[in-house]
Amino acid sequence: MHKLAIFASGSGSNAQRIMEYFKESPDISVVLVISNSPSAKVLDRAKNFGIPTFVHQPEEMENGGLLQVLKGAQVDFIVLAGYLKKIGSDLIRSYPNGIVNIHPALLPKFGGKGMYGMNVHKAVVEKGEKESGMTIHYVNEYYDQGDIIEQHRCKVLPADKAEDVAARVLELEHRYFAPCIERILKSK
Ligand code: GRF
Repeated sequence: MHKLAIFASGSGSNAQRIMEYFKESPDISVVLVISNSPSAKVLDRAKNFGIPTFVHQPEEMENGGLLQVLKGAQVDFIVLAGYLKKIGSDLIRSYPNGIVNIHPALLPKFGGKGMYGMNVHKAVVEKGEKESGMTIHYVNEYYDQGDIIEQHRCKVLPADKAEDVAARVLELEHRYFAPCIERILKSK
């Protein structure tokens, strides 16, 4: 049985989809939802699924505190779904090829520090891109630079505002993220 932890900082609509997707799975279970923010809506979503939550302090990312919580819950795979803090080197070393992130653009374009949420979609529209999409990638010590696992594309129309692109990309994320996680874990 694979045991997943989902890290999220905000709304957690992706986390919600993942919790739904694996709810009845005999081999993959979401055992923990972790946030850096006590007011993140994702925590309520997790509680509705009866999944334990943990809000970590900033220093716990580096001092072994968070790692201890993950190991205590026997987590073997970590999913970042709208998690806005940097993952500590401790965690990266402890989970080789065991941490994935979803990014709301076609990396390596529109990635890096500060490129999250609406900033990404605004930049895509300002640049006059004709397409955008989402990227699922492994996490290493550099923002948005780990190996790409999967990408899905959508159109950017001439009249689109950042909000329109955001909605189209989020739809792709909701459709493809959980099955991708399942494929990765089944091949392990
Ligand atoms: C998603 O667009 C994801 O790509 C990005 O943050 C957003 C999270 O949305 N990293 P939600 O919290 O899952 O609704």
